Amino acid sequence: MSAPREQFGSRLGFILAAAGSAVGIGNMVGFPVAATKNGGGAFLLIYALFVAFVCLPVMLAEMALGRNTQKDPLGSYKKLAPGDGKWAIAGWLSVITPFMIAVFYTVITVWIIGYLFHIVGGDLALLADPDTFGNFINSYEVFIYMAVVGAIVFLILQGGVKEGIEKAAKILMPALFIMLVGLVIFVLTLDNAFAGVEYYLVPDFSKINASVVSGALSQAFFSLSLGMGIMITYGSYLGRDNAVPGSAKMVALTDTAVAFVAGLLVLPAVFSFNPNTNTAELSDSSVGMIFTFLPKIFLALQTTIGYTGASIVAGLFFLLVFFAAITSLVSIIEVPNAALMGETGMNRKKALVILGVLITLLAVLSSTSFGMLDFTTNFVHYANADKSVFDVLVDVFYDTILPLNGLLVCIFVIYRWKRARFNAELDAGDPAYKGSLFEKYVDFSLGTFIPVILLLVFINTVALKYF
Ligand code: PHE
Repeated sequence: MSAPREQFGSRLGFILAAAGSAVGIGNMVGFPVAATKNGGGAFLLIYALFVAFVCLPVMLAEMALGRNTQKDPLGSYKKLAPGDGKWAIAGWLSVITPFMIAVFYTVITVWIIGYLFHIVGGDLALLADPDTFGNFINSYEVFIYMAVVGAIVFLILQGGVKEGIEKAAKILMPALFIMLVGLVIFVLTLDNAFAGVEYYLVPDFSKINASVVSGALSQAFFSLSLGMGIMITYGSYLGRDNAVPGSAKMVALTDTAVAFVAGLLVLPAVFSFNPNTNTAELSDSSVGMIFTFLPKIFLALQTTIGYTGASIVAGLFFLLVFFAAITSLVSIIEVPNAALMGETGMNRKKALVILGVLITLLAVLSSTSFGMLDFTTNFVHYANADKSVFDVLVDVFYDTILPLNGLLVCIFVIYRWKRARFNAELDAGDPAYKGSLFEKYVDFSLGTFIPVILLLVFINTVALKYF
C-alpha cells in the first residue's frame, strides 16, 4: 500500500495556494494593459462577466475532478474513463500543456529576477535605456538567474504540498498584497495619477468588438490558471470535507481583485509620467510593458523622490511581480510532477530532479531563441513569419491548447463522468451549494454554452495564428 496522498493543511492554505497560482504576471501587467487599450471600464465589465459566468464553472469542474479522483490530471482521466484512449489523450494534453507553459514562464520569471537584482545593484538608469532589455536577454547572465529561479522552485516543491506549496503561498501572498496596496497608495499621490485612474475606469464601449471580447475571455481563462490541470492537481490534495465551490469563488475573487488593483498601480504611474499618454503607445505586450516601459517610468520618479527612492519603488514592483510569478510557476510544475509521481510511483524528489532537468534544457533552448542561436531563433516558419522556439511555445500551448483543454474538461465532466456525480462531488462538504441556483447554473452552462464558447475561441485562434 502506498503512502496516503498529501493534503493541504487548511482551507485557507488551499485558497492561498490556488490564488497564488492564479495571481501571476498576467494580473500584474497583462490585465491593466489589456483593459486600457480595450475600452477601460467596458473591458472590466466584460472580463468580470466572463470570470463569473464562464471561468468559475470551469474551475469547479477541474477542482471537482481532482478531489474526486485524488489524482493528477492524467490519472484523473484514466481513472474515470478506464481503457478509453480518447480521454487518455485529453489526460496527456493536460500534463504536457503545463509542462510547456512552465518552460516559457520560467524564461520570463528569470528576466524578472534579473531586473530585480540589477535594480538592487543600482542599475535602474541602465534598465530604463531602451536597448538594455534586448542585450540582457541575449547575455549569458540569464543562465545564472535561471539557476536561481530553478533552485527556489525546487526547494518549494521539494517541501511537498503542505510544507512547501502551502507554506510558500502563506508567506508570499500576504507579502504580495501588502506591497501591492502600499505601491498603489504611493502612486495615487503622484501628480496626474487620477488621469490614469480615469482612463482605466471610464468605459468606452466603442472599442468593444469581437476580438476584444475573445481576448477578454482568453485573459480571464489564463489568469484563473484554467486548462493547465493546475486546479485538478490542487483539488486532488483536498479532503471530502472541503467546501470546493466556496473556495473556488474566493480564488476567482482574489485573482480578479488583484488584477483590478494592479491597474490602479500601473496606469496612474503611466499617466503621471506623461499625462498625455496616448494609450496606443503603451506596449502591446506584457513583456514590453514590464521590461522597457515601466523601468523608464520608475526612473522618472527620481526627480521627486531621488534615485534611491525611485530604485526602491522599482525594486518593490519587481519583487511583487516575482512573488506573483513564483507561486504560479510552482503550481504549474506541480502538475507534471504529480503526474510523474502518480504514473511511476517514484518519490517527489526523484520526479522533481527529472522534471527540473527537462524544463531547464527547454528553458535554455528558449532563452537562446532571441538571437543567441540562429537555429532556435528562426525555428519554424508559419503565418508569414519566422518563429522562435519561445514563440512556438506561446502560440501552441498558451494561445491554442489552453481553450481546448478547457473544452475537454467541460465535456468530460458532464457527458462522460456525468453530471449527477459531478454535482454530488461538489455538494459534499458544501451544503450551501447543494440545490442552489448557482449549482443549477454551473450544471447547465458546463454542458451547453461554455464548451461552445471555448470551441469558438479555439477555432478563432487556429484560424488567426497559423494561416
Ligand atoms: N494565472 C497566471 C497569470 O496570470 C498564469 C499562470 C499560472 C501561468 C500558472 C503559469 C503558471 O500569470
